[in-house]
Amino acid sequence: MAFGKRSPSAVPAAPAPAAAPVAAQVQPRSEAKRPPTPEPVAVKGAPKPMEPPPKPKPEKKPEPVRQITQQSEQYYQTKTTIFNALIDTIDLSQLAQLDAESARDEIRDIVVEIISIKNVVMSISEQEQLLDDICNDVLGYGPLEPLLARDDIADIMVNGADTTYIEVNGKIERTNIRFRDNAQLMNICQRIVSQVGRRVDESSPICDARLLDGSRVNVIAPPLAIDGPTLTIRKFKKDKLKLQDLVNFGSISEPGAELLRIIGRSRCNVLISGGTGSGKTTLLNCLTGFIDPGERVITCEDSAELQLQQPHVVRLETRPPNIEGSGEVTMRELVKNCLRMRPERIIVGEVRGPEAFDLLQAMNTGHDGSMGTLHANSPREALSRVESMITMGGFALPAKTIREMIVGSIDVVVQASRLRDGSRRIMNVTEVLGLEGDTIVLQDVLKYEIEGEDANGKVVGTHRGTGVGRPRFWDRASYYSMERELAAALDALGA
Ligand SMILES: Nc1ncnc2c1ncn2[C@@H]1O[C@H](COP(=O)(O)OP(=O)(O)OP(=O)(O)O)[C@@H](O)[C@H]1O
Ligand SMILES: [Mg+2]
Repeated sequence: MAFGKRSPSAVPAAPAPAAAPVAAQVQPRSEAKRPPTPEPVAVKGAPKPMEPPPKPKPEKKPEPVRQITQQSEQYYQTKTTIFNALIDTIDLSQLAQLDAESARDEIRDIVVEIISIKNVVMSISEQEQLLDDICNDVLGYGPLEPLLARDDIADIMVNGADTTYIEVNGKIERTNIRFRDNAQLMNICQRIVSQVGRRVDESSPICDARLLDGSRVNVIAPPLAIDGPTLTIRKFKKDKLKLQDLVNFGSISEPGAELLRIIGRSRCNVLISGGTGSGKTTLLNCLTGFIDPGERVITCEDSAELQLQQPHVVRLETRPPNIEGSGEVTMRELVKNCLRMRPERIIVGEVRGPEAFDLLQAMNTGHDGSMGTLHANSPREALSRVESMITMGGFALPAKTIREMIVGSIDVVVQASRLRDGSRRIMNVTEVLGLEGDTIVLQDVLKYEIEGEDANGKVVGTHRGTGVGRPRFWDRASYYSMERELAAALDALGA
């Protein structure tokens, strides 16, 4: 396929044959103007080139030989120069019709020619790096690609073109990833959100989306984000952490994990509470691992993150309003609909509004073993948040009635936290005992006690039982013939 530059002029220039020397394709750049619509539909959002670099005049005065190093200022300049020359040479709309492999080959051929014309001296590995970067810009998510390819990154946080942070092993660190400018970053954001049929620009500057690999994305653009487009990606982990991984990381003790297993198996209704990124969804996913394969499970999420292993699972996802502002399907509508789908368990990815009422009702009416997560800093706060979600949802119910509902439906609250050293811990496994007057009575069965820090700044502490010999969910465990295991786990927790 020929990739001669599309010419807006009427000159019916014969398309450059595939074998045409690239020099011939590159040179006319000086005369040719970019088409009036610079971004072909097929590659909508393709990065716009910056100001054209000075024209090379190899025949008169060859450009000085340049040696570049990766990621240096010069590297970015060289990349911009070559990128611009490439954009002027190829037809992006034709390129978009190729599969990734052939498109890459086309780009490679042209880039190699441009490098030689412009007299840039580069090692093979530098050339490969440059080629990767350019392909990522043209075909993918630009400078984000290397970060997206890494499975050890939990979050990617882009704060404008020059600043990108990542979270690795619980620690946030700055990377040397840079975008050419905010326009390129905005184009990439646009490309991401257009995949889910959304648009992000000044008039609708906030947008949630999902990458094809399932990663959760949020974009907030200027003027709301003052220092440039701000992109946050929660990377989708292909290999979800298992409860045993959490034990290995020290997030929970072995007997604590056994306690969670019994709670999951014996169909307790569980709320998982924690701060942002504290590991709530991961923990919920672990707990769903103990659901019996024969059960019909329905999951409701804003962005499908859970990976249930059972065969009989129906996955539902909320839908944001479309560009015209209609078509939204809320979590409440999903949870309500769930109840008509004969679920045995309902799993709500994140409870944050009036759906709390429907989830409690489900828990109360024969859908034992339902679970959900919510943002709160302690089990008590989690329950008061549920109460305020219901109050704010416009259900005209007295506080006491709401509390009775809470007590009658939630059995256990598991609290997760991200500690100051970046590690995640299960801080409490707390059961809901009942109402005393107007107060909900809670009882910790397991608690994490922080004892200090080691020489490397790692938090040191112990998961301890609280001496509870017979928790309220004992009867449940015994109904599922697990009282011996529960007794053993409680003994092993220590006090
Ligand atoms: N116990 C753990 N040890 C180490 N890493 C963990 C642990 N739990 C979760 N993670 C990692 O931390 C990141 C955030 O986890 P997760 O998505 O479960 O958090 P969350 O509380 O649901 O976040 P959000 O509030 O954004 O929904 C993920 O990359 C996950 O793999
Ligand atoms: Mg989550």
